[in-house]
Amino acid sequence: MRTLSCEVKNFVGKPVTVQGWIHKKRLLGGLNFLNVRDRSGLVQVVVDDKAETEKLRGLQIGTVVEITGESVSEERAPGGAELHDAKITVLVPVTDEPPIEIDKPISHKPEHLDTLFENRGISLRNLQEQELFKTKDMVCRSIRGYFAKNEFTEIHTPKLLAEATEGGAEVFKLDYFGKTATLAQSAQFYKQMMVGVFERVFEIGSTYRAEPSATTRHLTEFLTVDCELGFVDFEQLQNVLGDLLIYVVDETWKTNETSFKKWNVVKAELPEKAQDIPRITIDEIHEMYKKAMKEDFTGEDDLRPDEERFICEWAKKNKGSDAVFVVGWSAKSKTFKFYHKADPKNPDIAERADLLFRGVEITTLSMRQHDYKKLIAQLKSMGVNPENPGYASYLSAFKYGMPPHGGFGLGLERLVEKLFKLNNIKEATLFPRDINRLAP
Ligand code: 4AD
Ligand code: MG
Repeated sequence: MRTLSCEVKNFVGKPVTVQGWIHKKRLLGGLNFLNVRDRSGLVQVVVDDKAETEKLRGLQIGTVVEITGESVSEERAPGGAELHDAKITVLVPVTDEPPIEIDKPISHKPEHLDTLFENRGISLRNLQEQELFKTKDMVCRSIRGYFAKNEFTEIHTPKLLAEATEGGAEVFKLDYFGKTATLAQSAQFYKQMMVGVFERVFEIGSTYRAEPSATTRHLTEFLTVDCELGFVDFEQLQNVLGDLLIYVVDETWKTNETSFKKWNVVKAELPEKAQDIPRITIDEIHEMYKKAMKEDFTGEDDLRPDEERFICEWAKKNKGSDAVFVVGWSAKSKTFKFYHKADPKNPDIAERADLLFRGVEITTLSMRQHDYKKLIAQLKSMGVNPENPGYASYLSAFKYGMPPHGGFGLGLERLVEKLFKLNNIKEATLFPRDINRLAP
């Protein structure tokens, strides 16, 4: 029977069998020390028998083995116990040296990232790298937990589409049996249609943007946590997102505190209640930035990345929050999408908020135009033809009854990047895609 490395300490004095990969080999005073890796971590194995040592001759890190030995308590060994009198069976011999060393932390300096990604299938065998993606798994689980508790239905929407969902130049087009299809820039249309069915929906799905430049915050393929719900107002919608963030930070800290500590990061600081996450208008931020930095972006309809960092530092210092809602977006600029809704009391301002977290935008949220006629008018005013087949069934959902609703899209990789205070979104992506990388 197989024992996992983390359980070896429960069998002190007894024989156990482990299976895994040789992760590290050391020859010390005539004894061979092996670290064997399995899904639960590492176990140390002491090999003293000549015939057993001989079985490993010429074999490299990565060799898959089954080892039976006696569990012996040993404080210095990972997990607090090691195997003695090891009998080795080589299950899969590896004779080539791996291209990258995996038994110590791998450099994430900008100039080393390409090596990390080039060898991703192997570099992820490094235990510290694994912590990032085990935590990403927990982030997804806690997101699902939050939505399940709040009666959302998880949906899966198509990524091959007839029309661009978000418009603009950042849409991938591809040949679709002689027609042109696009890759989904968001789940926007479908999640809205599903509000007419389930009221509350969410999706964690792949999203594609033809981002023409390689930045530290953009991927061409990423995961968005899309959420959409009916019968809410702008205030309530922001609180749903705030509550989700607070919940995810708390839950993942509970389950993965050791992962964060291995990366030397502290828990993100957030108010206890979503209502207390600071809400600042874009105009106020431009003004504060101008005053502090002597650079004038007042009147611009979007924030500069430097302004996003600046206001996050300000909120952390003055409000004890790693998150900030940016509100007060213009309803008269190109940042206003055809599906957005203006504030009924102030038609110049959109009911839209961006959530910044540790210096970067992680979410855009908005109330949607749910009035069928006004939605068509907004589409036309932005030069889109509502007759296009890609819009027809989206619009019919409105024709046949859509309640007031809103939602948001949260970039999963940006969230994980910032939970770990990484400098590049790609570090939080198993197999990153950008303008220069399509493999592995
Ligand atoms: O801000 P975006 O473009 O908003 C939408 O897609 C809307 N449909 C959301 C809504 O429901 N109102 O994208 C949402 C989030 C961004 O805040 C960012 O975190 C992430 O997706 N994102 C990217 N992440 C990685 N690489 C890119 N190229 C990204 N573009 C957006
Ligand atoms: Mg956005």
